[in-house]
Amino acid sequence: MVKKVEKLPDHVCIIMDGNGRWALSRGMERNVGHRQGLEAVREATEFAAEKGIPYLSLFAFSEENWGRPQSETDALMSLIVKAIHSETPTMMKNNIRCVFIGDREQLDKNVLERMDTCVSQTAGNTGMTLIVAVNYSGKWDILQAVKRILELNPPSGHLLSPEIFSTYLATAGVPEPDLMIRTSGEMRISNFMLWQLAYTELYFTPVLWPDFRRPDFEAALNAYYNRKRRFGKIQESL
Ligand code: FPP
Repeated sequence: MVKKVEKLPDHVCIIMDGNGRWALSRGMERNVGHRQGLEAVREATEFAAEKGIPYLSLFAFSEENWGRPQSETDALMSLIVKAIHSETPTMMKNNIRCVFIGDREQLDKNVLERMDTCVSQTAGNTGMTLIVAVNYSGKWDILQAVKRILELNPPSGHLLSPEIFSTYLATAGVPEPDLMIRTSGEMRISNFMLWQLAYTELYFTPVLWPDFRRPDFEAALNAYYNRKRRFGKIQESL
């Protein structure tokens, strides 16, 4: 019989989806859903830290999100800035180190300043690492890695292996996600960590992100424990 996974995942990543639908179904504007989604961010982060999950990644803003009306992208950016500021004490209390991944080029100076301050304030924390993806996309990540490799002097492309390539990704040093959770019933990866998700267990729940609570996270972990991970091998070779 194939062994079940009993171990806690080293890295969980979450595509937080359904904020807009949560608000619209209550006759409220979409941004109310994003604000409510922040409660779920806090609860999921505290839950993961308490459980002892070493890495938690949250997809807060994708490159494609710029295609939304400016009123929504402005509101999302200011929510992210406010959240980073207001959540830093919670991160300190829970010994959480925070890092950001994504293309910094299009981000406003005030967003970058808040991000950098949070990174340096939490740098000494030794518990969970929280990875917040802001203006991130998986294709951007692979391209920025390729561009940096092409600039190497002397040219070193011939030395590349998957392990070495990974060290050029925005997630360098972070284990590939064991479990990806996406809320709201959509079953897509939506340009999240394309390279890193190669062997990740995918978990989709109909729960909208603002409603995602500890029992929902626990249900995702239970589903993960029951997965049979073979990584393309057969049981006898594991
Ligand atoms: C997707 O719902 C959610 C987002 C695009 C934004 C999520 C961001 C936050 C909750 C803030 C996070 C902040 C930090 C610092 C981690 P959607 O708008 O696509 O929902 P819909 O599919 O129902 O329209």
